[in-house]
Amino acid sequence: MNKIVEKEQFSENVFKLVVEAPDVAVSRKAGHFVIIKIGEKGERIPLTIAGSNPDKGTIDLVIQRVGVTSHKLTSLNVGDEITDLVGPLGKATHIEKFGTVLAACGGVGTAPMLPIIEALKKAGNKVITVLAARNKELIILEDQVRQFSDEVVIMTDDGSYGTKGLVTKGMEDIINREKVDKSIVIGPAIMMKFAALTTKKYNIPTEASLNTIMVDGTGMCGACRISVGGKTKFVCVDGPEFDAHQVDFDEMLMRLGAYKDEEVRAFEAYMNN
Ligand code: NAD
Ligand code: FES
Repeated sequence: MNKIVEKEQFSENVFKLVVEAPDVAVSRKAGHFVIIKIGEKGERIPLTIAGSNPDKGTIDLVIQRVGVTSHKLTSLNVGDEITDLVGPLGKATHIEKFGTVLAACGGVGTAPMLPIIEALKKAGNKVITVLAARNKELIILEDQVRQFSDEVVIMTDDGSYGTKGLVTKGMEDIINREKVDKSIVIGPAIMMKFAALTTKKYNIPTEASLNTIMVDGTGMCGACRISVGGKTKFVCVDGPEFDAHQVDFDEMLMRLGAYKDEEVRAFEAYMNN
């Protein structure tokens, strides 16, 4: 059982929970994630760790309320407990001094990006972050991102904040202006597909942090299977970060949608209860 000690609402459907998890708080590195479960028979979902406080023994989780489990999780309050939380899982982000790094965040993908840009900045990189969302209301963690970025470019689909346009426009404007040595892209799968196509045009090595369906988180069940450079990989143990130019995003998108009907039915049943 892991107690919730703080709760903050970022936007209509995005929440931050600060959760007691002392072992995870001490050992986690940028890129790691946890798998949580609400209730004995609950679904298991992966959540990237957005930050931690080893002294207080807490980790930060940012959750977008979309399906049954994320609704259950975000309806918990300070003092409530998460039934199960395992981690840190996955491989930590490979951090070195690359030079100029372009970090592209799409919507909720900003949360897993935060510890990565912090580590990149501390390693001496120049970090340029594109912070993109559908509208101003959905831009999250801007102050924290600014703390670890040399420059932040805000993009909104509707132009309500920053420059109007998708994350890929912001990326391309930067790439056309200065030499970028490395890029990291995190957000919805469709965004990472097009962000990867953008950097591929300019031969910029790019990593994407993938957020697939997961069950066991140990490489046994196959739920998180993807193809990278024609080879089968498991996001839970081989990732979550992969060479974005090698990931088969179309296959990933198809697998992400495989349980849509069941998810809709489960959600309707949950809301009618
Ligand atoms: P969203 O749909 O609001 O998109 C965010 C931004 O991504 C957009 O503003 C746009 O700039 C860009 N984008 C979207 N589609 C694009 C396209 N076709 N081409 C170029 N750019 C595009 O995102 P959201 O609602 O905040 O995110 C929801 C999704 O993100 C969920 O599916 C969730 O699973 C995923 N997610 C991924 C991670 C991860 O680690 N990769 C972490 C959290 C959430
Ligand atoms: Fe089961 Fe990755 S979650 S193999």
